[in-house]
Amino acid sequence: ILHDRGVISRYREFLPVSDATPVVSLNEGSTPLIHVPKLSALAGAQRQVFIKYEGLNPTCSFKDRGMTLAISKAAEEGAKMVICASTGNTSAAAAAYAVRAGMRCVVLLPAGKISMGKLAQAVVYGADVVAIDGNFDDALELVRELGQRDGIAVVNSINPFRIEGQKTASFEVIDELGDAPTVHCLPVGNAGNITAYWKGYREYHLAGKSSALPMVWGAQAEGAAPIVRGEVVTNPETVATAIRIGNPASWKGANEAIEQSGGMIRALSDDKLLEAQAWLAANEGIFVEPASAASVGCLLAAIDEGLVAKLPDTATVVCTVTGHGLKDIDTPMEFAGGGKILEAGASADSVLGVLGM
Ligand code: F0G
Repeated sequence: ILHDRGVISRYREFLPVSDATPVVSLNEGSTPLIHVPKLSALAGAQRQVFIKYEGLNPTCSFKDRGMTLAISKAAEEGAKMVICASTGNTSAAAAAYAVRAGMRCVVLLPAGKISMGKLAQAVVYGADVVAIDGNFDDALELVRELGQRDGIAVVNSINPFRIEGQKTASFEVIDELGDAPTVHCLPVGNAGNITAYWKGYREYHLAGKSSALPMVWGAQAEGAAPIVRGEVVTNPETVATAIRIGNPASWKGANEAIEQSGGMIRALSDDKLLEAQAWLAANEGIFVEPASAASVGCLLAAIDEGLVAKLPDTATVVCTVTGHGLKDIDTPMEFAGGGKILEAGASADSVLGVLGM
């Protein structure tokens, strides 16, 4: 029986691990790359669009890829406790992997600004959850300070092992498509993931696994778009709480990914994010959280503006959707006006009646 089928065992030669590294894994990664016919049709010509569905990781977001590495390295270094600031997904992953490693896990969250699903994860995995009277950026500052103490490992993406783990998503895309896509679209918050994808694409290209590098297109929420605006946003606001971040730690990495790849970064309104979320669920059968829909919203905007029509006729586009829709059910239910639920009596006639049949 193969005990470990996570990203460390799959991509060991590309990762900073050795025989001395105790692998802490929940079999993360190897997520589906799903062809989306309706989005492909909108992209025009023979262009093909794929969704990298990262919500199907063990804690239902892409953070598991980075966390397996961050926690394994923390274990190697003898850490007994890990700490992170989070808008919810990092804390869920940290809490779960800390359980596997037998470590204490402390998570600092912006009070009232994370979804219940994510909060429940941290609680049930047994983390010490501290709600901070501040936003994510404030919480991350605190974590930097507390991480100075002996025996405490910081597992935010300022920990380079997080980026190393997350770069494996690019490897998987190339392994599956047989080459790099023409464009890769990503949501951007603290900017760790866009940095990681670009690192992954470059390393795999150097290893001869792809013929070219993709263009990287990033998307932030309009009320939390420091990279687009080129300045820190002191009071970031967006319905997409996962990316409610005003001062991204990996700002430089994001700029490098965009510039070196000949890509771009744009801001999307909350309405556009929610529309993209609803569109993807209703048209392609893929339910993601609002922040995750930023990649799809980015592509839809680029299609509208005629940017996609300028890509080669046979271009391939991959949109990473970062977290599962069930993480945050309140937001879409509100947006859908209570979900348009029909009411009927307990009879076939009554059901047929409300269905207009
Ligand atoms: N999508 C989701 C669902 C996220 O949770 C995050 C970040 C991002 C996108 C953006 O990724 O930060 O690497 O640019 N969530 C972090 C957290 C901040 O604490 O869970 P990024």
